[in-house]
Amino acid sequence: MKEFLWGTATAATQIEGAYNEDGKGLTIWDGLTEGHIRYNENCRVACDHYHRYKEDVALMKEIGVNSYRFSVSWARIYPSGMDKINERGLKFYIDLVDELVKNGIEPLVTLYHWDMPIWLYDIGGFLNSKFPEYFEAYTKTLINALSDKVRYWITFNEPQCFVSGGYETGWLAPFHKESKCVIERITRNVMLAHGRAVDCIRKYAKTSARIGFAPTASLIMPKNNSEKEIKNAYDRTFDPSLGVGMGAWWSEPIVAGRIPENMKFLSEEDIKAIFRPLDFYAFNIYRPENARDFYYPGMTRSALGWEVLPECVYWASRFYHERYNLPILVSENGFADNDVVSSDGKVHDTHRSYYIEKHIEQVKMAISEGIPVIGYQYWSLIDNFEWAMGYEPRFGLIYVDYRTQKRTLKDSAYLYKRLIGQIKYSERASVNVQKGVEVD
Ligand code: FCB
Repeated sequence: MKEFLWGTATAATQIEGAYNEDGKGLTIWDGLTEGHIRYNENCRVACDHYHRYKEDVALMKEIGVNSYRFSVSWARIYPSGMDKINERGLKFYIDLVDELVKNGIEPLVTLYHWDMPIWLYDIGGFLNSKFPEYFEAYTKTLINALSDKVRYWITFNEPQCFVSGGYETGWLAPFHKESKCVIERITRNVMLAHGRAVDCIRKYAKTSARIGFAPTASLIMPKNNSEKEIKNAYDRTFDPSLGVGMGAWWSEPIVAGRIPENMKFLSEEDIKAIFRPLDFYAFNIYRPENARDFYYPGMTRSALGWEVLPECVYWASRFYHERYNLPILVSENGFADNDVVSSDGKVHDTHRSYYIEKHIEQVKMAISEGIPVIGYQYWSLIDNFEWAMGYEPRFGLIYVDYRTQKRTLKDSAYLYKRLIGQIKYSERASVNVQKGVEVD
């Protein structure tokens, strides 16, 4: 029996801080954000996780998770170019992985979560024809350093967001608004980099690696249970004509080796370099794309205005499994609020507790129907720097007072602790989905 991956997720830029310590280079989130972040906030200190990682791992242990998804900051490893590794930066991740493993927590490593080094941006970033080669070299360094203990690897987090948000609509760093042709060139280079990274992991990993990438689920959720409506929602979910912000744009070439009609900028030769068998299909999901169709007055929303529709986890698991026939990892799912510490010293985050309970019910439903969901990673372990929104939206199971860096477990952390252990996952399920998985 293998355990269900109960965990929490984070990303380097959002929690680490220590933005220029121990030889780290700047990223596009350190250097280009002037005038782009709410209240002029920045990620220089964030949760100071770089110095407090042991305390944070101890808190994970207290919550009872058996896995933890985090990302590596490329600029910590290669601060000024690909010619020289910064050993002190690398050591941070080696130590973090050791600490996790020592505490019985399986590390899930994301190679790229939006924080391109400035030196790379300055030479064209994703548009540089050497980008795939550089990404492969960076991957190899991490594989050499971490793959004796790390088995789960995720190449890119939400390419939809960092390409569309970063280069089309311009709400994420580097805040560009580029033409369609530029978006296509970036898409191709990111995909080629993914392919190279997968080959590199398979070739050099010291333990048997499990590889995926983590797009946004981009789900069109059916409005009722009729067969016609379900089919309609499924077809729209995978309609690549919806563009770079949708799942199909990324997943059809990467996971299925198919070139959709509107992606003819990819050649069959490209597909040979991009399409690689993956071990799981990870997705991040907060709400369906068509959330507005479910509007009712007073509907539950997060502090960011995101509609709470827990069924989206079930439908995304079902649709994405049906389409790509891989085990599913819910690699992010979470709720933002403006939490406060009450006078009893506790954080009574009722809405988040509700959110978690309801979404996990949907995971269980998917599993009970034989869909092999292998894990659930709550976003996020800890309140953190929410990109252009700064520190106001709090997603964490752990409250952070940014003036003192004091951490407080919220009520939802205790609820999560109680829920963990409810799902047991059998390894056979990933091999034969018909057999399903065991649900208590
Ligand atoms: C996702 C990102 C993650 C975090 C959550 C709220 O899109 O991957 O870093 O910002 O949203």
